[in-house]
Amino acid sequence: MKPSPRLSLNNGVLIDQLGFGLYKVPVTDASSLVSIALGSGYRHCDTAAMYGNEVGVARALGAAVDSDGGSGGSGESSPGLRREDVFVTTKVWNDDQGYDKTLQAFDASMVNLGLDYVDMYLIHWPCARRGLFTETYRALETLYREGKVRAIGVCNFQPAHLDRLLDSAEVVPAVNQIELHPWLQQAELREKHSALGILTEAWSPLGRGQVLADPVVVALAAEHGRTPAQIVLRWHVQLGNIAIPKASSEARIRENLDVFGFSLSERDMAALAELERGQRTGSHPDNVN
Ligand SMILES: NC(=O)c1ccc[n+]([C@@H]2O[C@H](COP(=O)([O-])OP(=O)(O)OC[C@H]3O[C@@H](n4cnc5c(N)ncnc54)[C@H](OP(=O)(O)O)[C@@H]3O)[C@@H](O)[C@H]2O)c1
Repeated sequence: MKPSPRLSLNNGVLIDQLGFGLYKVPVTDASSLVSIALGSGYRHCDTAAMYGNEVGVARALGAAVDSDGGSGGSGESSPGLRREDVFVTTKVWNDDQGYDKTLQAFDASMVNLGLDYVDMYLIHWPCARRGLFTETYRALETLYREGKVRAIGVCNFQPAHLDRLLDSAEVVPAVNQIELHPWLQQAELREKHSALGILTEAWSPLGRGQVLADPVVVALAAEHGRTPAQIVLRWHVQLGNIAIPKASSEARIRENLDVFGFSLSERDMAALAELERGQRTGSHPDNVN
């Protein structure tokens, strides 16, 4: 299977375009699923303090990454990786917003993950009514300057949140991780991101599985001899999104990474562009506070 291509963040750090998402993965399953993902070729994991599974991710990383940092390890779930081969993202939860609390939350995540740096640290939701996201972001900038994170960014920021953040930010966020799939294509944010040098990272890239039954997706899958999930993930790749599908079986984990051996035509991409219907599968950022 071909590995995921990498995209360059606005500070030159490279990130695999396809990663493995861990929302709603029980901590008891996280270790085996991340091990399967690493064994299948994923090199990018997306977790969060709120998911409660950072310690499971740590177990899988511990098994896959040689303790002296060199190549080693054995067996299917121990691909003999170096720490720097795997891109790990985690996020500060809403209740931990604020400068000091964020620094403490970061330390707790590092302990859970068993790491001495993370690749990317994100604000999970703006929680605009709390009025703390600029202060929270200042803590992320501190962590970035201290070399404890290689990149920082945000999730679920609407255009107005980005404008407010950028009034005081010294480091432009590397990504904005937002709900994005064929039924919610986020044209306005994607355009704003590209003007600002922010990469668009798609959460619920498969629309939590619902988009896979869309007749246009199903028809394209039949035409290409691929699965609906592969059509949707290929669409993300061709749009230039980072995407982090979650799956609970080895077959699906492998299927979701196997999208680099075919391409969608302009006509296919146009047909998928027509599927926009402003439909969320998760919360609207204004309703999370
Ligand atoms: N920043 C945020 O606020 C935020 C919010 C939500 C999610 N996220 C991140 O984004 C990641 C992905 O989002 P998500 O988990 O909500 O949704 P998703 O990845 O769009 O969809 C996951 C669902 O699709 C199913 N699925 C996966 N691969 C499939 C395949 N090949 N064929 C058929 N069904 C398939 C999964 O089923 P099974 O699990 O049963 O295999 C699961 O029910 C999360 O795990 C998390 O890392 C971030």
